[in-house]
Amino acid sequence: MSEPTRPTLVRGGTVVTSAGVAAVDIRFADGVVAELGRLAPRPDDDVVDATGCYVLPGGVDFHTHIDAVFRGSIRTADDWRSGSAAAVAGGTTTVLDFCSPGPDESLEQALAAWRARVDGQRPWADYGAHVILVQPDEDRLAELAQLAQLGVTSVKLYLAYPGRMMSDDRALFRTLQRAAELDLLVLVHAENGHAIDVLVEEALAAGEVEPEWHGHTRPPLTEAEAVSRATSLARIAGAALYVVHISSERALDELRRAAADGGRVHGETCSHYLVLDESMLIGAPREEAARYVCSPPTRSRSDQEALWDALGDGGLDVLASDHCPFVLHGEKIVDGDFTHIMNGLPGVEQRLLIGYSGVARGAYSLERLVEIASAQPARLAGLYPRKGDLRIGSDADAVILDPARRTVFSAATHHSAVDYLPYEGMEVPGGIRQVFVRGRSVVVDGRLRDGSGGGRFLAREHAGAVSHEGGTR
Ligand code: URP
Ligand code: ZN
Repeated sequence: MSEPTRPTLVRGGTVVTSAGVAAVDIRFADGVVAELGRLAPRPDDDVVDATGCYVLPGGVDFHTHIDAVFRGSIRTADDWRSGSAAAVAGGTTTVLDFCSPGPDESLEQALAAWRARVDGQRPWADYGAHVILVQPDEDRLAELAQLAQLGVTSVKLYLAYPGRMMSDDRALFRTLQRAAELDLLVLVHAENGHAIDVLVEEALAAGEVEPEWHGHTRPPLTEAEAVSRATSLARIAGAALYVVHISSERALDELRRAAADGGRVHGETCSHYLVLDESMLIGAPREEAARYVCSPPTRSRSDQEALWDALGDGGLDVLASDHCPFVLHGEKIVDGDFTHIMNGLPGVEQRLLIGYSGVARGAYSLERLVEIASAQPARLAGLYPRKGDLRIGSDADAVILDPARRTVFSAATHHSAVDYLPYEGMEVPGGIRQVFVRGRSVVVDGRLRDGSGGGRFLAREHAGAVSHEGGTR
């Protein structure tokens, strides 16, 4: 942050980290956690009374698409100003987003241009990059050696969207081999793009054009097959793999199998798969159903239960948002068949409280919430314990969460620039009272303070030891 801040003493709260829960005060100074314990106020402290509240490490969202372009020219609804405002308002102080190099750009050029664009939009949250690779050839793979020096330790490949973003098995396998040599984490969007294309062609030929066919043409086995393939190839290559947005129990089973066999495989689900389901697509009018279209599609109630369980027992490592908002009265509701609806949902602002609702429903403990929403994504990003924890020396990124409040999600009050919310009217337990980014108070009771943003690019290191141990500790 640009201006110096006074030390802040957060008193009377219950500090929650993935390691435990403790009734301690916490002092922030010079942007980091300076002290924990029973602390007396000093004359220069700003004192914040957190009595009755939890003090959590700021959320780390491993998967957002802020200011991103899809299908050549269609930009997501949030720029970095609004997208990161939504993040911090929802208690997420670090986002990992995507730099998508063009075919004629080097990774270094693309990253420099991307960083300049993000910084120019004055983000509120700190941010890091994953780099998207589309059908990488050996020249592109040779560039990966430089990536860690650029502060990027992860790449993403799509196994869906043939002809647009998909990489074939050779490109995936060669990337995994290079990643194993360079200690990079490979993210995959795991859906079988070719099989889905055939199912889409068949549906359209049969005159099925409504949004629910987005779901019918992407059945869970198209996801499970891709997870099985990617985890198998990662294990042959000896690479670390991270499967984004796991949505179904079948896909989850493949991940669990690979992890049980010793694979270095990690899985994420996203908030929308926990609380939205296929019924919102099926039989609904186009204008209603379109607002829930994402890939993979929302699934059944029993898939939801399996995802909650896996977040609790360690079958999944991370709760992310896949925040990918498209304007409803623009790109989402469209003429023509379901393939024209842009895939993706907003959610960066709702992720942490949806995660907290898992504590209330008994899916996992508060410490486990911190693990899946902050600590584990920070570890996988190579940012831990600077991010994802509240220990002495960690960045003073923190959320004061009031368990006595309740929050009703609405596009009328959210901070994203998108004109709708798939969670409209949903009420969840807990409310976010205050958010700090590197010791600076950026959100109080849903209001962003005036200011310059001040979020910084995070040059990342290789991921530290990441355990599969979960459990509802
Ligand atoms: O529906 C989704 N997930 N949209 C975001 C783009 C992607 O697939 O990563
Ligand atoms: Zn995504």
